[in-house]
Amino acid sequence: MLSMNIEKISQTSLAKAAHLLHTGALVAFPTETVYGLGADATNDKAVAEIFAVKGRPQFNPLIIHVSDMAMAESLVQWNKTADILARAFWPGPLTLVLERLPDSPVSLLASSGGNTLGLRLPAHADAQALIREADIPLAAPSANRSGRVSPTTAEHVYAELGNDIPLILDGGACSVGIESTVIDISGEIPILLRPGFVTHEELEKALCRKVKHHQEEASSVLKSPGLLLSHYAPTLPVRLNVREPKPDEALLAFGPSMPQGAKMVINLSASGDLKEAAANLFAMLRKADSPEFSAIAVMSIPERGLGIAINDRLMRAAAR
Ligand code: TXA
Ligand code: MG
Repeated sequence: MLSMNIEKISQTSLAKAAHLLHTGALVAFPTETVYGLGADATNDKAVAEIFAVKGRPQFNPLIIHVSDMAMAESLVQWNKTADILARAFWPGPLTLVLERLPDSPVSLLASSGGNTLGLRLPAHADAQALIREADIPLAAPSANRSGRVSPTTAEHVYAELGNDIPLILDGGACSVGIESTVIDISGEIPILLRPGFVTHEELEKALCRKVKHHQEEASSVLKSPGLLLSHYAPTLPVRLNVREPKPDEALLAFGPSMPQGAKMVINLSASGDLKEAAANLFAMLRKADSPEFSAIAVMSIPERGLGIAINDRLMRAAAR
């Protein structure tokens, strides 16, 4: 398959990729598990572009790829369990979910507004070289359209995304071929969130303790809302499709014409741009979720493109 946007890994293509990432563009790159669709994890709009290109109807938290321990420790509250697992399995196909640092520069959209981040130091030399060259953490889901299998060659990525992204770095076939294992070690009990190349047994052996499965834990501990949820859930009630906000409400507006009367108004996108609205969603929800207001009123968001994922999130926030 001939394509202008596939380039073999070289110093030139890596420099080009780093430049594209710095401008907020997406770059597909090889890892040892599957190809990732990478964006600057600190850039809200670049992260919104990931969801737009994948066509995902929901915002799920993305894995943040780092090039070394120092970068990892600058983003999350590192702990002893992380030390043990990183020593045993990094670089490699294991994603560690840890508490975000309060001043973590990573986009809230990349973690669905949640307080944790999933971090991975990939073993693939080209992935490491790219993150080092760009010198920023990369948010990267698998480089396929929503609901399809993960790509393990540059040609697979092209078959999925075609020319919707400016550059696909070709580092050959992925050696592992299945996604990384995801383990939540942000709390007291380690919890396996997604099975992957590193097995449950290997994790328990390294930690010298039991690792629970997500489902086991769900019934007992998940009673307290938000404890294990990777998504942000506002404390205030959320009212949707609002045309007339109440005087004690915070209004999340969308588009150029804003209804008057709310105590505070912030606009997800004054120009009515869904990508901008997605980029602003979680930061603005948090801003509006303050005890000085009685509720968060949200104007109607068009149910198309990224609007579908935005509405999914808002409807779940309103249903609580
Ligand atoms: O092998 C992999 O992990 C590949 C390569 C590109 O690194 N990436 C990948 O990403 O499979 P994705 O987006 O397709 O899957 C990410 C998984 C999801 O199941 C997501 O829910 C979980 O990781 N995840 C990421 N951050 C999380 C967080 N903060 N809390 C809970 N789960 C998280
Ligand atoms: Mg995937």
